[in-house]
Amino acid sequence: MPFFKQASLAWMFVCSAHPSVAFFKVPCSSPLVIQRADPIVSPGVASNHVHTIMGGSGFGFTMNYDMTQTSKCNSCSAIEDKSNYWVAALYYHAQNGSFHQVPQNGGALIYYEQRPDPSTNGKIVAPPAGFRMIAGSPFDRSDKGTIETHARSFACLNYNAPGTPQTYGFPTTKCPNGIRAQVYFPSCWDGVNLDSPDHKSHMAYPTQDYDNGPCPATHPVRIISIFIEVTWHTEQFDDMWYGDKQPFVFSFGDPTGYGIHGDFLNGWDVNVLQQAIDTCNDGGGDITQCAPIHMQPDWVTDGCIVERSIDEQVDGWLDALPGCNPIQDGPGDAHVVTGCNAPTQIGQPLHYYTDLTSKGWQWMGCTRDNVGGVRVLTGSMAGISDMTPEKCVDVCNAAGYSIAGVENQHECFCGNSLAGDMPTVTPMGNCLMTCAGDELQNCGGYGFIGLYQKCQGNCNNLQYPVVPH
Ligand SMILES: *[C@@H]1O[C@H](CO)[C@@H](O)[C@H](O)[C@H]1NC(C)=O
Repeated sequence: MPFFKQASLAWMFVCSAHPSVAFFKVPCSSPLVIQRADPIVSPGVASNHVHTIMGGSGFGFTMNYDMTQTSKCNSCSAIEDKSNYWVAALYYHAQNGSFHQVPQNGGALIYYEQRPDPSTNGKIVAPPAGFRMIAGSPFDRSDKGTIETHARSFACLNYNAPGTPQTYGFPTTKCPNGIRAQVYFPSCWDGVNLDSPDHKSHMAYPTQDYDNGPCPATHPVRIISIFIEVTWHTEQFDDMWYGDKQPFVFSFGDPTGYGIHGDFLNGWDVNVLQQAIDTCNDGGGDITQCAPIHMQPDWVTDGCIVERSIDEQVDGWLDALPGCNPIQDGPGDAHVVTGCNAPTQIGQPLHYYTDLTSKGWQWMGCTRDNVGGVRVLTGSMAGISDMTPEKCVDVCNAAGYSIAGVENQHECFCGNSLAGDMPTVTPMGNCLMTCAGDELQNCGGYGFIGLYQKCQGNCNNLQYPVVPH
């Protein structure tokens, strides 16, 4: 998958100044959920701003280590890593004041780097169960010249040109292959506290640089260095720039980029991570060379989702950023804003399928289609340029069919039975392509079909469990 290949090439460019050290990369092929959740900073309540969250499906508004271990699936590839990782979502700010979420390129790429530390005789430990931390601050709006500020950066991606220097704020020019945010977590632990009131003081950066040098005496235990990259398709908005400034803002109202921050909530099998730290020594970061860790394929990680449960729109065109997040420019620090009547309730899960029970059709599930050239529905097929599930159901219904399937944004299949045996139903996450006719509804995927069925008797959307296989 080009996303990962390109990311690793870029990594060599980033790190060429450092002596070679072993590392391994955990790819996360897609977000688990994008909503106002942050169980570290805002446990139990809606968080201040929208995050894009990757990792184990045990994720919730209140988290502990045991919950990570209940994950039924994982949007990251390492089976032994049920951690969650999150950063703020990115939005395009239109000239008329509206906002639109910028789609991510994949989910994230997490680097685990065995940075040697002379002060610990080279001993690097896995963070323990229950460990969590954050890096960076959403209130920053300028380069403060500190190690913490410089632990976060942006790459303006252009795969057809030599790399340009990374920046601490948003790139100011158009980036043909998108913008990659990079957050390096601190790696020196106080050895005692799994967390701290500010979620930072139990950790410190090494004394020379964010990724180098001995740990300070106050934080003498060296943990594995964790570095997260998230890339957005900002190039999809290249023809919508206006004025003399780049038009992207983070979900917390930051048009500068300096407020980028990352969160890590440990969900590793700690023994496996320690074995990986002790034995994996690939200089190119290839996790398949790291025997203690086992990988799962992208279609399984893509399929893993958690349904949103705050009843507010976070995607499509928005009048304002979700939560209370007016734009706050720098260079002074931003401050907390309240009183904008943003929803605070955590409600029932919001389904990713369209509820058509009022017209006598129900959701069946998402499944693989066209495996070995065999179509799940063989009655008829139509391309619908403004397709929604409802329009496809109407087409199939009018033609006398009892099952309708939406695929690849605009393809509508009809039939009366599913070809062969009932195909394996996959998690809804494989059917999350936006509909050609409505970007707020989902219309299947590439090679994945979202099935709706005419109700016989009771109309009840079937609730397939999210399963990894
Ligand atoms: C604002 O501009 C965008 C992009 O041109 C457009 O799609 C959107 O509908 C506009 N919003 C409003 C409220 O006019």
